[in-house]
Amino acid sequence: MHDILIAPSILSADFARLGDEVRAIDQAGCDWVHIDVMDGHFVPNITIGPGVVGALRPHTRKVFDVHLMIAPCDPYIEAFAKAGSDIITVHAEVGPHLDRSLQLIKSFGKRAGVSLTPSTHESAIAHVLDRLDLILVMTVNPGFGGQAFIPAMAEKIRSIRGMIGSRPIHLEVDGGINAETAAIAATAGADVLVAGSAVFAGGRYAENIAAIRSAAAAGARSAPAQGR
Ligand code: DX5
Ligand code: ZN
Repeated sequence: MHDILIAPSILSADFARLGDEVRAIDQAGCDWVHIDVMDGHFVPNITIGPGVVGALRPHTRKVFDVHLMIAPCDPYIEAFAKAGSDIITVHAEVGPHLDRSLQLIKSFGKRAGVSLTPSTHESAIAHVLDRLDLILVMTVNPGFGGQAFIPAMAEKIRSIRGMIGSRPIHLEVDGGINAETAAIAATAGADVLVAGSAVFAGGRYAENIAAIRSAAAAGARSAPAQGR
């Protein structure tokens, strides 16, 4: 079984107090800070640019897990790298040259991730596995927080866990994760859980993070060891 990491998505934070919010989730025990970058083109919403990532960087030493939902992505990778991202994840669907984008991320000394929207088959990443530090399975259609987890994604998570084999690649899930769906995702083989609404709801960040973590750990313990 893998240690479970919790990455709150600041998409659900109070945007007028983002620095305070990042400090609060840090103190509440998050592992990573998940930053959703949207362009109003690849996804139907607009959020955060590299300037905001740079402004948040002094507020925590935790890993900045930057999820780029932008097309094209290559022209912006340098700016997100220099702003203090630790992991930069691009979508497999944004262009024909995923391998080039991953090499570009690595050229700045950053960890590289690839994300798949719910309708994209996992075979899209079969030939780039050796370049990856992280695979992000979207468990909702990207664009907004607060959507419901798509149950068919459990099978995809399981299949990707098998593809990863013994490679040191994180398997992250994003969208509709709460204590209940965290257990489903961890049982299927996910080891990093993004949660927006479920962490920020009600203001009890530490309690919310702990609830997701313990539900996921219980799920991961019950998962078969084979292929994980
Ligand atoms: C959706 C984003 C997610 C989102 C998750 O496009 O990538 O990170 O903020 O929010 P919840 O946990 O509310 O589904
Ligand atoms: Zn995300």
